[in-house]
Amino acid sequence: MKIVVLLGGNTSEREVSLRTGAGVARALGTLGHDVALLDTGTGKFLKDADHALALGTGGPAPLHGGLPAQQGEQGLDIYVRSIPRSADLVFIALHGGPGENGTLQALLDLAGIPYTGSGVLASALAMDKVMSKRIFKAEGIPTPEWVERWAPEDPAAPWTPDLTAEEVARLGGYPLIVKPNEEGSSVGITVVESPAALRPAMDEARRYGRLVLVEAFIDGRELTVGVIDQRALPVVEIIPQEGWYDYEHKYTSGASRYEVPADLPPEMAEKLFALSLHACRALRTSGVARVDFRLGSDGVPHCLEVNTVPGLTELSLVPKAAAAAGMRYEDLIRAIVESAPVRAAR
Ligand SMILES: Nc1ncnc2c1ncn2[C@@H]1O[C@H](COP(=O)(O)OP(=O)(O)O)[C@@H](O)[C@H]1O
Ligand SMILES: [Mg+2]
Repeated sequence: MKIVVLLGGNTSEREVSLRTGAGVARALGTLGHDVALLDTGTGKFLKDADHALALGTGGPAPLHGGLPAQQGEQGLDIYVRSIPRSADLVFIALHGGPGENGTLQALLDLAGIPYTGSGVLASALAMDKVMSKRIFKAEGIPTPEWVERWAPEDPAAPWTPDLTAEEVARLGGYPLIVKPNEEGSSVGITVVESPAALRPAMDEARRYGRLVLVEAFIDGRELTVGVIDQRALPVVEIIPQEGWYDYEHKYTSGASRYEVPADLPPEMAEKLFALSLHACRALRTSGVARVDFRLGSDGVPHCLEVNTVPGLTELSLVPKAAAAAGMRYEDLIRAIVESAPVRAAR
């Protein structure tokens, strides 16, 4: 097949996307596909996977200026038009922003080009943490309690958000965790230990979007479940060497330890599989997805979010889970390609 890998982009997750795209492109080549790499941050076709890696490496990935996701859209419509008409499939390797939130998916739908992963609705729902959580709640999927606050439209306008005593109590008291509604890779997230630290954390989150969540902090274990084609992969446990699973820990080799399959009683693993598939069905994802959990000390697995374009770098969680299920990296990429719709006859 002729497959165009879309990678890079212009969001805070650009560097990770370049690495995901490089891995994917290499595997697609090994599988015998005719591959082109299009960097949607610049509109340029890249020579090969090494070219993408060269753009995306340099130690712990620096944040791309912390550009808010919605500013990453410029040019995307034009770049989609530069996808050759002969392409059979677009492989979406863009994390965050328009590549993951349904915008690109809509453009490709209009252009009649099939793509990997979730469609418009699932992409948009999964990118919106609050909307996802409302659906989890309605479906009986446990998710941490939360409070929502809207920052003023003008980013320079003063903002003095506060929580009522009732809200703090409902969230189980401090520590709390503050996050922007629509970012990924732990960007803009702060663990808040005391009331005095709340406002600075909310100001930080607000840089990435107007809607800010304050969530109950679930003290416990960090687990994630990859789903491919409505099949759950072995549970991965992430054990940060210190602190929590922030951006540095996600993308620095050796900063976290991983256990795959996680050391869990079989009933707990089964429960996580069932909840993951339920969450994916509820949001209507397709192809590959990854469901993030915190397993509280109360024994309840709390669903944090669903990622519809999970990282596929060599350090990433879904490839690790696939390996534990006996799938090589290329097998995983093949399964993602095979789960995508086929182009209608032209
Ligand atoms: N309610 C919570 N309790 C404890 N830790 C959390 C909570 N929410 C998020 N975290 C931590 O922050 C990380 C990122 O949060 P997540 O909601 O998955 O957002 P994203 O991955 O999109 O940045 C999680 O992997 C976890 O380590
Ligand atoms: Mg996450």
